[in-house]
Amino acid sequence: GNNVSIGLLGLGVVGSGVIKLVEEHQEKLVHQLGCDVQVKSVLVRDLDKTRGVAIDRTFLTTNPDDVLNDPEIDIVVEVMGGIDLAREYILKAFAAKKHVVTANKDLVALHGIELQEVASKNKCDFYYEASVAGGIPILRGIVDGLASDRIQQVMGIVNGTTNYILTKMNTEGLSYETALKQAQELGFAEADPTADVEGLDAARKMAILGRLSFSTDVDLEDVEVSGITNIEIEDLEYGKQLGYTMKLIGFANFDNHQLEINVQPTLLSNNHPLSDVKNEYNAVYVYGKAVGETMFYGPGAGSLPTATAIMSDVIAAIKNMRLGVTGNQFVESHFKKVLKTPDQ
Ligand code: NDP
Ligand code: HSE
Repeated sequence: GNNVSIGLLGLGVVGSGVIKLVEEHQEKLVHQLGCDVQVKSVLVRDLDKTRGVAIDRTFLTTNPDDVLNDPEIDIVVEVMGGIDLAREYILKAFAAKKHVVTANKDLVALHGIELQEVASKNKCDFYYEASVAGGIPILRGIVDGLASDRIQQVMGIVNGTTNYILTKMNTEGLSYETALKQAQELGFAEADPTADVEGLDAARKMAILGRLSFSTDVDLEDVEVSGITNIEIEDLEYGKQLGYTMKLIGFANFDNHQLEINVQPTLLSNNHPLSDVKNEYNAVYVYGKAVGETMFYGPGAGSLPTATAIMSDVIAAIKNMRLGVTGNQFVESHFKKVLKTPDQ
């Protein structure tokens, strides 16, 4: 029929936001796409858990096949997290010719190129706008908006949890532990927040940003990482007295086929626009040769903001379905060619 059914893997912070958005914005979706978008089944671990969103319990399942092998489901949204199982489910979805949308940077940073290739072979879309900087449409900004440009540098705050912690320590004098606890309660942190505070989550996002910005392979191991676990409130105070603010900054520079990429706590002068990015907000500075300096700013984590990124991918996949095309986030053949051309 004319209607599109999606299946969700996961109904946590992000999954609940997707359910809310689909329901509350149904009219706009119908208007844009000329069809209804419905969530048909949702994979969870615990059927009896109290959910922060109104959902008919009969939609919930603990059997992944109810999502991955339901011929009526066109698009699978993976918002459960983790690596091996998520990869396995996504591969199954491609084998069943379903388009896949994910928020999972852990997975995309490690296996994104493989998944992209399998998606292309199966003529499926694979989109992951939500995996970097939550609600900010940064991947589309780079891949579509700056498609004709040559991007040289990407720098910014790409982890909401650590920015929230540093902001609260700096402006309200909260302890590291209290600030982290708040970030977890607000749904910004990863299931295991170690990845946030040790800088690994930001490194994963920088690897994805680097790949798409420079059309070149970037491995997670290429990213030098240090996190915020050793930052003391005294370090922030000291910076403050000198007119500086501590931020966890991701940096990637690609020049002359040389890649420099890292994540580290950095003291920024209070005149620097990134010094004023607070709480869970993210901001990414992108320098392209033709466009010059651009800045992308907005909520980097949280339920509804992240759900908007998921839905932008779902809508892109539906539009592609209508046109009978796939529109993946980078063209594989181009990507490989760039890798094989060391000089130009
Ligand atoms: P949550 O922990 O809130 O939710 C995870 C959901 O997945 C839960 O509903 C859980 O089921 C389900 N789930 C987990 N493992 C399994 C499994 N093995 N089988 C079946 N169901 C499972 O995570 P988030 O919503 O915060 O994050 C989801 C993904 O989105 C992650 O990849 C995260 O990195 C990414 N992300 C998160 C953002 C955020 O702001 N939170 C922002 C951008 C990306 P149950 O409810 O029954 O326990
Ligand atoms: N834990 C992540 C963050 C979620 O704090 O930025 C958004 O990717």
